[in-house]
Amino acid sequence: MDTILAGLRAAAEPTRLRLLALLARGELTVSEMTHILGQSQPRVSRHLKLMGDAGLLDRFPEGAWAFFRLAAGGRGADLARAVLALLPADDPRLAEDRQRLAAVRAERTARADSYFRDNAANWDDIRSLNVDEAEVERALSAAVLADHPRLLVDMGTGTGRILELLGPHVERAIGVDRSREMLAVARANLERGGRHNINLDHCMVRQGDMTQLPLAAGEADAVTIHQVLHYADDPAAAVAEAARILRPGGMLAVVDFAPHQLESLRDQHAHRRLGFADSEVTDWFAAAGLVAGEIRHLTGKPLTVVLWCARKPADETPSIPSLSPTRQGAPA
Ligand SMILES: C[S@@+](CC[C@H](N)C(=O)[O-])C[C@H]1O[C@@H](n2cnc3c(N)ncnc32)[C@H](O)[C@@H]1O
Repeated sequence: MDTILAGLRAAAEPTRLRLLALLARGELTVSEMTHILGQSQPRVSRHLKLMGDAGLLDRFPEGAWAFFRLAAGGRGADLARAVLALLPADDPRLAEDRQRLAAVRAERTARADSYFRDNAANWDDIRSLNVDEAEVERALSAAVLADHPRLLVDMGTGTGRILELLGPHVERAIGVDRSREMLAVARANLERGGRHNINLDHCMVRQGDMTQLPLAAGEADAVTIHQVLHYADDPAAAVAEAARILRPGGMLAVVDFAPHQLESLRDQHAHRRLGFADSEVTDWFAAAGLVAGEIRHLTGKPLTVVLWCARKPADETPSIPSLSPTRQGAPA
């Protein structure tokens, strides 16, 4: 009973309920929550600390920022979800918070979009700044093409580099991106046959958000998400969307950075997240009903790039438990 009572006490305050309701919609930083609630940072931090101590929230420090989310597991997580289920959806304060949250997200999106608008033309120089591109591309090609996919979908395709790389080996490839400017460069690249001047007429790009792809469920044999998730508001939602469009037995390959401390990538290159731990990515896979597969760490200077693979179960049976300690012991 002690845990439950501590959790109930921690949640029993109007601002804390509002914070729980906000965090039910995705991870947020303290400054974002301060902005949404219109309260001082020390006050908001105190509420978060109390709820964190009671196991209702998880805190993830990352460079100069700290992200908060609803607790992923344990009694506190169950309690937070039970309390959230009782909150009236039409409460005017909660509705106002949701509107402010939408505005905060729109501002974030606008910042990333403006970065890509400004850098679309020289993106192909920027993309290889911190990593050995060739090594990463070899690993990605080997993982994806081993399956002989027919339809490949590349989420956040940018200038279409992954379509150029894998397109020659598949029947059809579709790249989706939110930025019109990046897509304009991608179209030009595909028309001239990429770096090697080969016919890529079967590769196309479409504008869209990676959490709402313009594709039917079960359509894709393989999905790639190459250096995109560190811009995402909700990377788990992008992984879930990839899982939706995969056919049973299809494979997902995610490439991104391992956790790092290069804060300058936030300031100068609009990154939101400073890399991802293996457990975080495999938790998203498990939550999306995917089975985690090969993980490759490609150590570089200064950044390590990771390739995480996952597969949609062929028979649509529930996913295996994730590799992360938070989910060990969860029912299969
Ligand atoms: C760092 S670039 C990577 C492009 C490409 N995958 C590559 O490796 O060269 C990230 C791309 O993701 C796109 N992007 C970011 N958030 C997105 C979203 N929510 N939906 C679709 N595209 C998004 C950006 O417009 C940008 O083109």
